[in-house]
Amino acid sequence: MHLYDLRTPAVLVEFARVRANIDRMQALATRHGLRLRPHAKTHKSTQVAAWQLDAGAIGICCAKLGEADTFAAAGVEDIRLPYPLHPSNADRLFALGDRGVRLSFIVDREDVALAWSAAAQRARRIVDVLVKVDVGFHRCGVDPGRPDVPQMIARIGGAPGVRLLGLLSHAGHAYLAADDGDLAAIVNAEARLLHSTATAARECGAAIGELSVGSTPTARFVGDTAGLTEMRPGNYVYYDRSQVALGAARVEDCALTVLSTIVTKHGDRLILDAGSKTLTTDQVARPGHAGFGGILADVVTADAVNPHMVIERLSEEHAIVRVTGETALKPGDRLRILPNHACVVSNLADEVALVAGTHVVDRMPIAARGRNT
Ligand SMILES: Cc1ncc(COP(=O)(O)O)c(C=O)c1O
Repeated sequence: MHLYDLRTPAVLVEFARVRANIDRMQALATRHGLRLRPHAKTHKSTQVAAWQLDAGAIGICCAKLGEADTFAAAGVEDIRLPYPLHPSNADRLFALGDRGVRLSFIVDREDVALAWSAAAQRARRIVDVLVKVDVGFHRCGVDPGRPDVPQMIARIGGAPGVRLLGLLSHAGHAYLAADDGDLAAIVNAEARLLHSTATAARECGAAIGELSVGSTPTARFVGDTAGLTEMRPGNYVYYDRSQVALGAARVEDCALTVLSTIVTKHGDRLILDAGSKTLTTDQVARPGHAGFGGILADVVTADAVNPHMVIERLSEEHAIVRVTGETALKPGDRLRILPNHACVVSNLADEVALVAGTHVVDRMPIAARGRNT
């Protein structure tokens, strides 16, 4: 099938790019002696997870047990949820364990860890946990500056039914970094905080094995740190306009795009059939990247963004594109969009079309999309 035979809006994944992104990140992790455990939140696809595992990933991450269910059913054996799972989910976690899946998750409070300990003892199980350390994102995690934290980590590790695997962090604030210097500083601070917390917790008797970090914008700086054990980038599998703005990827590395049709035209406005239901309203945090996605200069090569077109506004089913200068584009013509944030786009689509240039190679279901419990 030809690209133009697809009904639009259509989410496209360029086969060669996704495979190259997987190989490149695996090579980076291997070069630095780190295990790669990609976050599957970006693709939510059992096919893409299989490619990542085949390339050398030791397992995957999911945010929720519902996603883990889907990947476990597809044969993924090692799943980490870097999410503060509540013990009310204990039955679901144990059921996945019964299917032979090695599962781990994060805790960042002693009371919750003790509730997990109680649930594990009742069920005669062991739960594998990592303590989440807040390295500056201020979403979840223990405050590494608090003097009582090392003792608390040791108590969590000593709780019956709980096996403490190590410490884990996610520098989500890297998305707000001003430049590469800022990004490198965030990575170094993250490693320093994990090491100092691990050292102090070990002095209190905790057995800290793993030090797990992960995000796509920080991944390329991870080689400047030592002693980490695992990295968990997710977005790198597709990349997007935000990653290009952050210097983590070039446009020609971005694997996920949206094919759209111009449905009408008024003056300097082109109206496309891909609105917020496809692209979401996510914006790029760095200045100089206005709009709800970048219009690619060439539909087939998809290797540069057209600076003369800005997606100014979205309704659910419309994108309003402002064009600077003359354009011969007309209703019925196709445009290809580089989304600001690939993860949310693949969560909204029913399927993606795997493409090689103008050829549609396959249709790929997004098996774990929408699984938010
Ligand atoms: C806890 C955690 N780890 C890893 C990742 C992957 O980061 P990125 O999407 O920047 O690759 C995320 C993404 O949200 C996350 O929340």
